[in-house]
Amino acid sequence: MAHYGILTSGGDCPGLNAVIRGTVLQGETVHGQTFAGYRDGYRGLVYGDAIPLQRSAVRGISQQGGTILGTSRFGPYSESDGGTESIERQMDRLGIDGVIAIGGDGTMAAANRLLEDGIPVVGVPKTIDNDLEATDYTFGFNTAVEIATEAADRLRTTGNSHKRCMVLEVMGRHAGWIALHAGMAAGAHAILIPEAPESLVQICAWVTSVRDRGRAPMVMVAEGFTLPDMEEAHSHRGLDEFDRPLLGGVAEVLAPLITERTGIETRTTVLGYIQRGGVPSAWDRVLGTRFGQAASDLVADGEWGRMVALRGTDVVRVPLSDAVGHTKKVPLDHYRGARALFG
Ligand code: F6P
Repeated sequence: MAHYGILTSGGDCPGLNAVIRGTVLQGETVHGQTFAGYRDGYRGLVYGDAIPLQRSAVRGISQQGGTILGTSRFGPYSESDGGTESIERQMDRLGIDGVIAIGGDGTMAAANRLLEDGIPVVGVPKTIDNDLEATDYTFGFNTAVEIATEAADRLRTTGNSHKRCMVLEVMGRHAGWIALHAGMAAGAHAILIPEAPESLVQICAWVTSVRDRGRAPMVMVAEGFTLPDMEEAHSHRGLDEFDRPLLGGVAEVLAPLITERTGIETRTTVLGYIQRGGVPSAWDRVLGTRFGQAASDLVADGEWGRMVALRGTDVVRVPLSDAVGHTKKVPLDHYRGARALFG
């Protein structure tokens, strides 16, 4: 009986557990497969740290946020213990015939390298940022947008009562999908994303025109947004353990500038990890389940080196390499459509 290892890697994301459950149920029911779950992403693969994942282990988990397997940003080649030889040895020891890697661009890049080194692996795309090129949508994005929209709706209460400008910062390192969708849903008066630099003069003009109509301005900003005179996205917390800047806080840069130039009292909220946590939306549970089922079908067909993806309403198979090295940015005409209503 074929036995496969499942791992979740990179930032946690609502819907990961639905993928795990979808894979295990499809595998057991349709293909007669069995599974092990690697703990903490690629760390589990390298050290052979895995738990049995049978049907009873995934019961009722679709509605849970996070990942029952744990996750990390550990790379399969980053430690001296890593690399193909030790991974193959551990796979043999555990009787694993192939690996299902669930993660974002970093995870897919590592999976692609493992594939080139002869490890049988398939991918399932995940990120709340929705910035993976090879798929129309990733699970987790819908939940993050719902949470950010609700946060903006709630902030408007204070904005309207105190006649303040409220700035809400959401995630989005390279792409502003969450800001764009949540901003549109909440009727934000300005949406600022990494793909589209806006001048302070323009931002303040939108804020002022809202105030002049007697309304409280709401500005939605993605963490990766830069003003024209900023060389990089705002990061005041240094680097993470993988040398990526710890973003967050651009709202706090903007707020005093808005107050200074418009005279409007401005307050900020950085949504942070709240938008990644908790119960996944129904949409993300469905997409996660469909992706999980499709991953089980992929390995049943021995289509190593492929990733499942959503194209329109269909779940399709694409080469893993399609997901690597390309960020799916918000198209500028898409942004311009929303921008026409700012202010
Ligand atoms: O990749 C998703 C993301 O949410 C980014 O938008 C954000 O910059 C990053 O994760 C932060 O995650 P962590 O602090 O867990 O590395």
